Amino acid sequence: MKKRIIVTGGSGFLGTHLLRALIQAGYEVKNIDLRQSKEFETVLADVQDKKRMLVEIKDADAVFHLASLIEAGESVKEPQKFIDNNIDGTLSVLDAMRENGINTFIFSSSAAVYGEPLHIPIKEDDRTIPINPYGMTKLAIEGLLSSYVQAHKFTGVALRYFNLYGPEEHHEPESHALPRFIKQIYQDKEVTVWGSGEHLRDYIHISDIVDAHLKALDYAWSNPEKYHYFNLSTEKPSSVLDLVSIIEETMHKKATVKHFPARPGDPLKLYADASKARKELDWEAKVAFSEGVKGVVEYFMNYWEENFDEAK
Ligand SMILES: NC(=O)c1ccc[n+]([C@@H]2O[C@H](COP(=O)([O-])OP(=O)(O)OC[C@H]3O[C@@H](n4cnc5c(N)ncnc54)[C@H](O)[C@@H]3O)[C@@H](O)[C@H]2O)c1
Repeated sequence: MKKRIIVTGGSGFLGTHLLRALIQAGYEVKNIDLRQSKEFETVLADVQDKKRMLVEIKDADAVFHLASLIEAGESVKEPQKFIDNNIDGTLSVLDAMRENGINTFIFSSSAAVYGEPLHIPIKEDDRTIPINPYGMTKLAIEGLLSSYVQAHKFTGVALRYFNLYGPEEHHEPESHALPRFIKQIYQDKEVTVWGSGEHLRDYIHISDIVDAHLKALDYAWSNPEKYHYFNLSTEKPSSVLDLVSIIEETMHKKATVKHFPARPGDPLKLYADASKARKELDWEAKVAFSEGVKGVVEYFMNYWEENFDEAK
C-alpha cells in the first residue's frame, strides 16, 4: 500500500516542488494550504484552525510542515502575526498528529535560527540567537518539536536552509534576491544591492532541498523517536555580485547596480557546514550555482513571454 504524506503549505514555492517529487516517488499526498495550489488538489484551511486540523491531519504516515509566514522584515513589524501563524499553527498540527496517531514530522526550519553567527561555516550546534521574530518562531518550533519527541514519542526532523532558489519562485511581494534581480535587469531597472554586494550567502537550489526532504523522510522512519536537525548547504557560498554577473551573462544584458547602505544585522559571511547531512542523510547539494541560476533566468524569460502582464 502507498504511504500517505500530508504537506502543509504545499501551494507555495517549495511545496509545489516537494509535492511533485513525493508523487514521483510513489507517495499518496494531501496538501493543506490557505491558498489553492495551481497544480494539486488542496484542502483550503488555516493550520491555526485546531478543529479543522483534527479532521484533516489523519490517516497519514508523516507530515511535512512548510506552512509559514516567511518574511523576516515583516516579522519585525508584526511579531504577533508570526507568533500566531507559525508557532500556534504548528502547535495545532502537532496536536492533531498526536490525537490521530501520526508521529513523523519534518519541519522547514531556517538559517534564521542562528542569528549572527560567531563562527563560519555554521555548524548545527553553534549558538542559536535569532535576530528577528521570524527566526525566533523557527527556533521556538524546533523546541516545541523536540518536546513532542521527548513527551509523545514523535520523530522530528528540522531542516535548516539558507537562501533557497529555483524556477517557479513567485512570492508576493518578492523579497528574495534572485527573482527580484532578474526582474529588475529584464525591465532595465536599477538592481538594488544593500552594502558592497560582496557579502557571501548560501544559495541552494530547490531540487537539492527537495532531495534532502525525501532523504530526511526515510531517515526519520529508520531513526524513530528522536529529534534530528540538519543544515542544508552547498558549502560553496556566492556573493550577490556573483549572482548579478551570472544573470547578466545569461540575459546578455548589463545591469546597473545601485548600492544602498548595508543593513544592520546583515553579516558579511553567512553559510553553513553540511557535513552532518552528508554523513547521516547521505545527501549533498549537486546543482552548481552558475547552472542553477541560468536555469532560473531562462525560466523567467519564458514565463514573461507567456505572461507579459506580470513582466511589467
Ligand atoms: N524560501 C526560502 O529561501 C526559505 C529559506 C529557509 C526556510 N524556508 C521555509 O520553507 C518553507 C516554505 O517556504 P516557501 O519559500 O515555499 O514559502 P511560500 O510562501 O512560497 O509557501 C508557504 C506556504 O504556506 C502557506 N501558509 C502560510 N500560513 C499558513 C497557514 N496558517 N495555514 C495554511 N497555510 C499557510 C502559504 O499560503 C504558502 O502557500 C517555509 O516554512 C519557510 O519558512 C524558506
